[in-house]
Amino acid sequence: MAKKASGGGFGKLFLGFILGIVAVIAVGYAYLNFGSLPVAVSDAPFLLEKQIVRIPLHSRIDREKTDPPFGISEDVFEAGAKVYHAQCAECHGTPGHDVGYAKFMYPSAPQLWKKHGNKGVVGVSDDEPGETYWRVANGIRLTGMPAFKHVLSDTEMWQVSLLLKNADKEIPDPVQRILKGQ
Ligand code: HEC
Repeated sequence: MAKKASGGGFGKLFLGFILGIVAVIAVGYAYLNFGSLPVAVSDAPFLLEKQIVRIPLHSRIDREKTDPPFGISEDVFEAGAKVYHAQCAECHGTPGHDVGYAKFMYPSAPQLWKKHGNKGVVGVSDDEPGETYWRVANGIRLTGMPAFKHVLSDTEMWQVSLLLKNADKEIPDPVQRILKGQ
């Protein structure tokens, strides 16, 4: 008797569990279908969307970033500028020239030759070259930032990262000209 009752109880519990899962899936589907989730560039972000993406990205970069295999020189900057002009300028702008559509991307493409804040930071000059290298090599998922490790060599990715680290310094004229494609 007791055994039978407990078997029935388990059956009901199991059925309730299955129905619960079905209900969650149905509500989730209805929410995706009928709820007005942000999908357009101009929509407001989700609650905590920025934090949810930034925290794991930063901790991953902190774990995996490495040091540059060579130092800076005008040759390195010129080589970095060639890479930048060919692969990055269309989204990230050049000194004195911002890309019009960059702010209408979501997330927007930061203009890497623009001063921001009040500490004289230009673009990502306040980031370590190893952090920029990680972003260039691996890209940033669900953004317009591509992964370049199959497009550029390791040396080229370091050259452009070292150049961006020094974007707040005086940029020699030949480097400026290459950046602007002159
Ligand atoms: C098709 C557009 C596009 C191209 C081309 C592109 N990027 Fe990006 N990049 C983005 C976007 C969009 C973001 C912003 C991602 C985010 O908010 O997380 C970004 C972010 C970055 C960041 C992080 C900026 C910050 O403020 O933390 C760096 C550094 C960067 N890109 C460097 C480069 C370099 C170097 C190249 C060329 C080798 C390049 N990108 C090419 C779109 C692009």
